[in-house]
Amino acid sequence: MSETVNILLVGAGEINFGSVEGPWNHTLRLEQILGPRLRVVALIDLDASRATAALDAKLASPAAPAYADCKVFPTVTEAARSPLSQTPHIAIVGAPPFARGTDIPGRDLELQLVEAFPRCALFVEKPVSSGPEDAAWRVADVLEKSGTLVGVGYMLRYLKAVQVMKKIISENGLVVMGTNARYVMAYEWARKPAWWDKTRSGGPIIEQATHFCDLSRYFGGDVHLPSVVAHTVQPNEAPGQLSAKRFDEDPIPPENRLPRLTSATWKYRGGAVGTLTHVIALHGNTYDTEFEVYADGYRFKLVDPYGTPKLCIRRPGAAEEEVHVFKEDDPFRTELETFVDVVEERGSRDRVLSSYEDAIKTYELTWAIRRASETAAASYA
Ligand SMILES: NC(=O)c1ccc[n+]([C@@H]2O[C@H](COP(=O)([O-])OP(=O)(O)OC[C@H]3O[C@@H](n4cnc5c(N)ncnc54)[C@H](O)[C@@H]3O)[C@@H](O)[C@H]2O)c1
Repeated sequence: MSETVNILLVGAGEINFGSVEGPWNHTLRLEQILGPRLRVVALIDLDASRATAALDAKLASPAAPAYADCKVFPTVTEAARSPLSQTPHIAIVGAPPFARGTDIPGRDLELQLVEAFPRCALFVEKPVSSGPEDAAWRVADVLEKSGTLVGVGYMLRYLKAVQVMKKIISENGLVVMGTNARYVMAYEWARKPAWWDKTRSGGPIIEQATHFCDLSRYFGGDVHLPSVVAHTVQPNEAPGQLSAKRFDEDPIPPENRLPRLTSATWKYRGGAVGTLTHVIALHGNTYDTEFEVYADGYRFKLVDPYGTPKLCIRRPGAAEEEVHVFKEDDPFRTELETFVDVVEERGSRDRVLSSYEDAIKTYELTWAIRRASETAAASYA
């Protein structure tokens, strides 16, 4: 591997360049991880003005040398046609899920990238797609056959607290009995109309609770998909009235509006049971999120994994729980640092905690919850 690490960015949006809404910002993390070794060779975005603005801001920042040779392109095809300053080692795929994860022309970014840059590793954002699950499996097949290293942005797996839970489970030979994920969203400042339209965002489970579904699978294993049962509170029901929305929901057709509460359970293939509650209820902008894992003698409770994670553990023989607080743990940085390490052949591919195939299984679970909840809602409408 050369001295520099050459990056191709797809998407000039929030995940790659940051947002006031959250801590995500892949370019900032890459600058921190690689310093003078970072070379961003191309930025691909259909929106040329957004891409140029993002690049100009970088060129005016202390990180400018890393972007000095970066070229902006509207498509992968255009990028492949032009000589780049250096061949990319890693593509960071931060375009929306409707542009990727299938073999349908125009929604096939991964396939375009593998064809154009066959030796490039792909770091793909979650969810893997918004298209049909079988199309995502066909993409997985191509990626497997081409030997492409792929990591998916389920960053919560990289939290120190999550790895402590994994270690205790493994060292004590525990068999997970159940997982219980609770995600209560503060909606007051969620004002993008597209997010509130499930035909555009996929809905709250596919788009948002996907991180908690993935964490559930990380501990519980593969899910028996036909076992998924789910109920919702719908926006037209009395408990679903929200008083602090700061956008106009009226233009969204009623059938496309988001359920306010989704409660799902399922059986894992290994025998454990999973539960998820997702709620759009809180005002302000502080979310309330908790994730529990149960095993014989043990209860792990992970509180606030997106903020300052706190891990509460009950062990056999202890009436009191022990509490660990993980200040300044940055899973976005750890996931990219790990990916760069593996691309540079420091450690095996197992260090990448979210593979493409595994992320498709999470995508399947989120669709199974959405479908089960819609079937149930139709039955009592
Ligand atoms: N892991 C996390 O916590 C996290 C946080 C934020 C976003 N994300 C994910 O990142 C992805 C992008 O989200 P975002 O918030 O950056 O979106 P965004 O809308 O801010 O930016 C997406 C950009 O992609 C561009 N684009 C659309 N289609 C394209 C195509 N075919 N080729 C190239 N560019 C294209 C758009 O023009 C836009 O500039 C989503 O899948 C989202 O779920 C993950």
